[in-house]
Amino acid sequence: MSKETRTATSRTTVLTGVTTTGTPHLGNYAGAIRPAIAASRSDDARSFYFLADYHALVKNQSPESVHRSSLEVAATWLALGLDTDRAIFYRQSDIPEIPELTWILSAVTAKGLMNRAHAYKAAVAANEDSGQKDPDKGITMALFGYPVLMAADILLFSAHKVPVGKDQKQHVEMARDIAQRFNHNFAELFVVPEPVIDDGTAVLAGLDGRKMSKSYNNTIPLFEPEKKLRKLIMKIKTNSLEPGEPKETEGSALFEIYRAFATPAEVEAMRGKFAAGIGWGDCKQELFEYLNEHLQAARVEYSRLIDDPGYVEDVLRKGATRAREISVPFIERIRHAVGIRPLVR
Ligand code: TRP
Repeated sequence: MSKETRTATSRTTVLTGVTTTGTPHLGNYAGAIRPAIAASRSDDARSFYFLADYHALVKNQSPESVHRSSLEVAATWLALGLDTDRAIFYRQSDIPEIPELTWILSAVTAKGLMNRAHAYKAAVAANEDSGQKDPDKGITMALFGYPVLMAADILLFSAHKVPVGKDQKQHVEMARDIAQRFNHNFAELFVVPEPVIDDGTAVLAGLDGRKMSKSYNNTIPLFEPEKKLRKLIMKIKTNSLEPGEPKETEGSALFEIYRAFATPAEVEAMRGKFAAGIGWGDCKQELFEYLNEHLQAARVEYSRLIDDPGYVEDVLRKGATRAREISVPFIERIRHAVGIRPLVR
């Protein structure tokens, strides 16, 4: 099909959300942000990206950190070149149709389905392991119903494809279930979405060698000022081999991070240096210089955006206006289908 004849409805719709907890780090960038931004520049898909700030509430963050993280996540995506003319970029809480749909979907969601959610089961298991009498101790309805909110995010915009990390695959499958149940009970309104798990994207190791993750507190924030970035890289765990001794690239956090950013030729060159026994100090210095150079321009833009929240707010509101051009008429049809309608026409 040529570009001209491709209409909005025949294009694939891709949608993904980012929970606004914490500061985006190198692992988020290589694993999720970079591929999403690349995809947003393609003409083949219509893409929706949003800040999942209602999801952030589930994790019991402080109000200040939810608020701050929304600015940081938005500024990160913009600084890295998200094309907001093509992609629709918005904040979940600016779309009142999302919580509205969440309730309607709750009415077709089996409680038993939610009982099987990994995140909920892990919380119950943690209670049981710690000898708690009440297996639901500390578990909120928001944690329990989280997949329904996520289903509303996805179904409201008729997404075909939902790129997510492995840990979120089950949630997209639940959204499929919920969509099918609704379509069967009421009307064929929802697209049944598919999770897209890209096994090719990098999973980065963090400071301690485990997967880089907020929950392990081992991250390297993307836009750390130069000095701090250097300090953090110097902290990355290595083994005790001396300079001159050949080193394995396999299992080296330094190598993995370098590989996620460098070109194939540069990666091969680094492999050679490992074999030739590069010292860990020199290796860290090289990684620092490489990343610093790579992130410099985006970091300048990021600071500019962080200092101009009014601009970021404006971008998000414009995105919400575009998103609501879709969600407002669609929720009307959904309400109608379940019998929530005016008494007279
Ligand atoms: N729950 C997802 C996460 O923690 C974020 C998210 C919220 C999401 N709503 C979504 C992802 C809808 C994809 C589609 O990573």
